[in-house]
Amino acid sequence: MTKYGKIGDTPMTFEIGSDEHKRLLCRFFVESHDPYVPTKLPWPDLDDSVKARLKALPIWDEAVATEAETALKVVTLGQVEPDPVMAEAIAMQGYEEERHAEVLRLLTQKYGIPVQERAAPVKPRNAEWSFMRVGYGECFDSFFAFGLFALARDSGFFPPSLVKLFEPIMQEEARHILFHVNWIAFKRARKPALMRPAYLFQRGLAIYLQIFGRVKTAVRVGASANGASQDNFAMTSAQSFGDVTMRGFLETCLAENDKRLAPYDARLLRPALAPTIARAILAVAPKGEPVAA
Ligand SMILES: [Fe+2]
Ligand SMILES: [Fe+2]
Repeated sequence: MTKYGKIGDTPMTFEIGSDEHKRLLCRFFVESHDPYVPTKLPWPDLDDSVKARLKALPIWDEAVATEAETALKVVTLGQVEPDPVMAEAIAMQGYEEERHAEVLRLLTQKYGIPVQERAAPVKPRNAEWSFMRVGYGECFDSFFAFGLFALARDSGFFPPSLVKLFEPIMQEEARHILFHVNWIAFKRARKPALMRPAYLFQRGLAIYLQIFGRVKTAVRVGASANGASQDNFAMTSAQSFGDVTMRGFLETCLAENDKRLAPYDARLLRPALAPTIARAILAVAPKGEPVAA
């Protein structure tokens, strides 16, 4: 097992993959669960201009489909995970994803947002592999969603009543990605030494399949606004919130990511991939260039 001396200035008192790691991970997750009920959320009455702005966001088809698909994948892993402590946390995450799908269903109905029907998601055959993939997708999407949400909040694009409605969902995604990176590290550490290279390959493939396609699209959108589609909603949506530079957007994503993860046990590993990519882009991004012209 890999032993970590410290993360930043925080000493690690356990080994990654140990029972203590599992206990801290599952405890953080279960104890930070927010028991809200979607129908009892403070659904605001919005005026027509706000509804029109919401409808114009290029996110709804993708968001509705993604939440439903993610929910099924996470729920499936919760059903087959043999460790009861881990199973409880994963089942809770599955429930939270189902709740996200329900919130989006209520929201699109209440505010008259049209959503394109897509085929119902199919139950995965390999639950662990699909959880691995879905988690990497969430790590990437959430990083940008945190920044977009802050732009929508700070620019006044979302009135305070909508910010209040979405806030628990945003925070839940922070918990999910924190769980995911620790789950990956835990599983890897528990593999026999001979199987770790294969697990590393599997992990690399999951990252490639989930993330690099999105990076390619995001870079394309950064170069040309004409490429906008719902497949790259994180980057294209930034245009909806006024004059946003690529630099400003990525800096906001980094700051929001840190803020959202800050409340949780500092001994747990933090997602690193999306922040690393953002910092690499920032290192070469020209100052003052808009996200899209
Ligand atoms: Fe979700
Ligand atoms: Fe999630």
